[in-house]
Amino acid sequence: MTSRVIPVAPFTLTVFGATGDLARRKLIPALFHRDLDGQLPDDATIIGVSRRALSDEQFRAFARQALTDHIPGNELEGPEVDRFLARLSYVAADADADGGWSELAQRVEAFPEHIPVYYLATAPHLFGPICERLGKYGLAENGRVVIEKPIGKDLKSAVALNQQIGRIFPEDRVYRIDHYLGKETVQNLMALRFANALFEPLWNNAHIDHVQITVAEALGVEERAGYYDTAGAMRDMVQNHILQLLCLVAMEPPASLDADAVRDEKLKVLRALKPIDDQNMAAVTVRGQYRAGASAGGAVPGYLDELGSSTSSTETFVAVKAEVENWRWAGVPFYLRTGKRLASRVSEIVVGFKPVPHSVFDANVGPIESNRLVIRLQPDEGVKLWLMIKDPGPGGIRLTHVPLDMSFAKAFKVRNPDAYERLILDVVRGNQTLFMRRDEVEAAWKWVDPILEAWRNAKEPPRPYTAGTWGPSAAIALIERDGRTWLEDGA
Ligand code: BG6
Repeated sequence: MTSRVIPVAPFTLTVFGATGDLARRKLIPALFHRDLDGQLPDDATIIGVSRRALSDEQFRAFARQALTDHIPGNELEGPEVDRFLARLSYVAADADADGGWSELAQRVEAFPEHIPVYYLATAPHLFGPICERLGKYGLAENGRVVIEKPIGKDLKSAVALNQQIGRIFPEDRVYRIDHYLGKETVQNLMALRFANALFEPLWNNAHIDHVQITVAEALGVEERAGYYDTAGAMRDMVQNHILQLLCLVAMEPPASLDADAVRDEKLKVLRALKPIDDQNMAAVTVRGQYRAGASAGGAVPGYLDELGSSTSSTETFVAVKAEVENWRWAGVPFYLRTGKRLASRVSEIVVGFKPVPHSVFDANVGPIESNRLVIRLQPDEGVKLWLMIKDPGPGGIRLTHVPLDMSFAKAFKVRNPDAYERLILDVVRGNQTLFMRRDEVEAAWKWVDPILEAWRNAKEPPRPYTAGTWGPSAAIALIERDGRTWLEDGA
């Protein structure tokens, strides 16, 4: 099966932080893949910017290495590599000083008919200063700006940052990336819900018992411990990725996939989240921190060792029982959990349906398990619908729970594109559907802030869990108290 490739309009993409980790691991490989598929127009241009003094050639050598490190060798054998590298040039400029900016302006203005895109792959404290200089040098006029999380560390700082950016770029040219929205399976959630008549009539509290959203990582924080310790799992994963997933599950059908139609519906979900504060925090949240343990068959250090500190109250695990207070979802818990150094890397959404209202079978046929829809985001992307069927064979009826199993890798023999491939080109297309609008980000912080505050007020350290397990036992108790259980690995 081949993918349909529609080339985008000519663009000049300026990447700030071009020698950083995000550019190296994600942006350069993603752009190359789109080029390889023939989606970049001949004159698309990419300008790298960072403080380091590099020539165009040195930057191209850096990019070549990034491709070698992150792209399979067989995709690097053709003439496409040199064609891609020829698109790249480099300007040394500092967000806090004027040096280099006139040269950058000249390079961008050399292509007046191109769509100018500015990707801020830098530390967040530079977002404001870079936007200001883009404005000062006349580059913001038609430009689109792309920023990454963290967008603030609480509501106040997010509002301040959004205002700073908003003074230079109007909202319809601000692209806030949540890379989870660019993942194939996350978009598939919309296809599943809105391109099938089957699910929508059941998609409510009359038929759904509960929803689980798990984003589990096997890796620890490793060399990102410095940043991570200022954030923690709530800010790093829940405020953005997990709440976005929750929104896509819980939102009303939008009238279209138009950016604002979708984002209006997501915003309503965020605003309908039941507040969690000092009163209910202990009953509905669990925070944990990993201790030394085992992962992938080897011993791994604890969080404090990775951080190089004897103390930290930063959580590397969070579980929350969330509720969406509206007619569709009243009484349906959304159990959310995420953590580092868990038993395996798995991200999935489990929609658990209610049991059948009455059994016509004899008690000895075995329990009638509830139907479940499992959307596996990664790895092994796919969808499973668990049903009860009759065990084959003669004799009386025996029932068994089996999945209708749709593995994307088996069904579509195409490479699963990285989220950034889709998202960067959506910026060029001017399609904001998969980007977070300002009010969404702020509504998410509005829900998260009181939880963080309640944790601070409680002054309790995060609960320890052994690396390589599913988190603190309190997280298991959180769901089992309600007579339910966490489901892992497509179960
Ligand atoms: C990032 C977080 O946004 O998402 C990281 O900052 C996390 O801590 C990562 O590891 C997970 O992304 P993915 O695509 O690997 O699931």
